[in-house]
Amino acid sequence: MNRSDKAHCMTISKAYRRAFAPSVNLAPRAFKVYHLRFISRRVAAMTAQTNRQFLLAKRPVGAATRDTFTYQEVPVGTPQDGQVLVRNEYLSLDPAMRGWMNEGKSYIPPVGIGEVMRALGVGKVIASNNPKFAVGDYVNGALGVQDYFLGEPRGFYKVDPTLAPLPRYLSALGMTGMTAYFALLDTGAPKAGETVVISGAAGAVGSIAGQIAKIKGCRVVGIAGGADKCKFLVDELGFDAAIDYKSEDVPAALKRECPKGVDVYFDNVGGDILDAVLSRLALKARVVICGAISQYNNKESVKGPANYLSLLVNRARMEGFVVMDHAANFAAAGQEMGGWMAQGKLKSKEDIVEGLETFPETLMKLFNGENFGKLVLKVS
Ligand SMILES: NC(=O)c1ccc[n+]([C@@H]2O[C@H](COP(=O)([O-])OP(=O)(O)OC[C@H]3O[C@@H](n4cnc5c(N)ncnc54)[C@H](OP(=O)(O)O)[C@@H]3O)[C@@H](O)[C@H]2O)c1
Repeated sequence: MNRSDKAHCMTISKAYRRAFAPSVNLAPRAFKVYHLRFISRRVAAMTAQTNRQFLLAKRPVGAATRDTFTYQEVPVGTPQDGQVLVRNEYLSLDPAMRGWMNEGKSYIPPVGIGEVMRALGVGKVIASNNPKFAVGDYVNGALGVQDYFLGEPRGFYKVDPTLAPLPRYLSALGMTGMTAYFALLDTGAPKAGETVVISGAAGAVGSIAGQIAKIKGCRVVGIAGGADKCKFLVDELGFDAAIDYKSEDVPAALKRECPKGVDVYFDNVGGDILDAVLSRLALKARVVICGAISQYNNKESVKGPANYLSLLVNRARMEGFVVMDHAANFAAAGQEMGGWMAQGKLKSKEDIVEGLETFPETLMKLFNGENFGKLVLKVS
């Protein structure tokens, strides 16, 4: 039995005594026998639990499907030195997961074939052999698409479920919110009065970025798919205008909504929409390449922008962004975002789907626009 099992047993022992000792009027020796049986049953039950996992089976060509993954059930282990056992509660589903399935150089190594599919998530520590995390702590980290995470908690940090609901730590108060905050404010650097255009605007990152741009006094135009999403952006989130790229002529709509040109373009989608916005840039515009979801499932090479000479004509710049570069400043940004939320200036919308078993199909919602807000998978 390792240290954390002993600690766990001590807790059980206290609970046991409180619950049963008064009523089982036994001699100390008999009590000890009962007590040890009780503990060994609890530890056995803990280790006999099943961990459902999705492993990457192959590198997909085009969209990922259920065949891209292997589903397996394995027993839950116990933490060794430095490790924690976390019961995963909510997993963050991100477009980036499609990129992590590809071979080749990126900002993070790909998920290996046969490895548990990488996913950020929040969960509860249920056994710990690591002095930094105690049983009962809630943590945010790369938990993987599974019921339980067992391993070293590299990069994990604690979250407080009494301050905000757990899924919010994956949306506005998590990596999504950090992406919106730093990509907009650091890379886009908008000034009050400027026009900011955001694609994927009703999604997790886009909806937060647009609201921050409003807080900073900008004119904000969102591009999203469908009337409901566009109405939500204007009526609920206070965007100045929204363009439905599925039913409108985007270049014409940009001309109408951005008469002075586009000062900051926050790009989440790439492809034709990027080209359309490039053709409307204002002088000294900043184009933030946050993502290009329209290209992630391409079977052939990524389609680059044809209108890039607009950068030359307008002395504009286009810059790539990776959220992890800003990790040192997450805490300060989180505080500011939390303050805006408390003041009612920033809303966070989560789209929660239940059931780990639905993972492959739920992930695909991101690529056909079926999610409305931050897509979160409730594990069980
Ligand atoms: N660089 C970084 O560090 C970083 C970090 C996090 C996220 N990101 C990027 O940020 C972007 C948004 O991520 P998210 O988590 O907030 O996802 P999301 O916007 O919540 O969901 C994806 C949305 O993309 C839209 N979409 C899908 N296919 C499209 C297409 N072909 N053309 C136009 N729009 C399409 C859909 O909305 P509609 O219904 O409007 O089509 C869908 O709801 C992604 O590109 C992601 O890779 C980057």
